[in-house]
Amino acid sequence: MPLSIAEVCRLAPVVPVLVVEEIAHAAPLARALVAGGLKALEVTLRTPAALEAIRIMAEAAPGAVVGAGTLRSPADVRAAREAGARFGVSPGLSARVLDAAEEAGLPMLPGVATPSEAMAGAERGLEILKFFPAEANGGVPVLEAWASPLKGLSFCPTGGIGAANAPDYLRLPNVLCVGGSWVAPRGLVAAGDWAAVTALARTAAGLGAVVPA
Ligand code: 3PG
Repeated sequence: MPLSIAEVCRLAPVVPVLVVEEIAHAAPLARALVAGGLKALEVTLRTPAALEAIRIMAEAAPGAVVGAGTLRSPADVRAAREAGARFGVSPGLSARVLDAAEEAGLPMLPGVATPSEAMAGAERGLEILKFFPAEANGGVPVLEAWASPLKGLSFCPTGGIGAANAPDYLRLPNVLCVGGSWVAPRGLVAAGDWAAVTALARTAAGLGAVVPA
């Protein structure tokens, strides 16, 4: 069943941003995150294991909605779709990537860092955008400043967000959810400490009520 980006963002307040180094980690990692209440999972195409990880996670964790991140080219979009990704995330706003995603029927969450980029996204009919990299670009005050002039647009801030500052973002009316890697730290994943990942996910899932668009 295809989900819109709005529906993906409303599954939980936090979208884990995952860098999967080992295929063997894919299934237990997805199960651990879903057990903690985080259902939308972004697997970044930054490792050779990523595409296979998307396939495995979708099968191993039926409650998960697995998407692909770091989509930077039409070829990335097609590969993600073929692997079974249900949504795509990009660090930036690329017309070629968005065209390919439309053609492939892949809902996209492209990244923006300026009002001009947000307006370009809105011109393409997008109402939800990733604000990236959130902390480096000014974080909460920037999104507050955008709320009125960019009314009607909602954001998934990502980059530099953790359990401590996520609530500050989640209470903004123009934030639907946040993305971040802190729920699946490299060390815990490498150690196979899935119970600890579930504990981090559970805390993240309880961070804030998801604000309707
Ligand atoms: C990324 O693309 O790596 C995401 O923005 C995650 O950033 P984080 O590691 O700061 O959460």
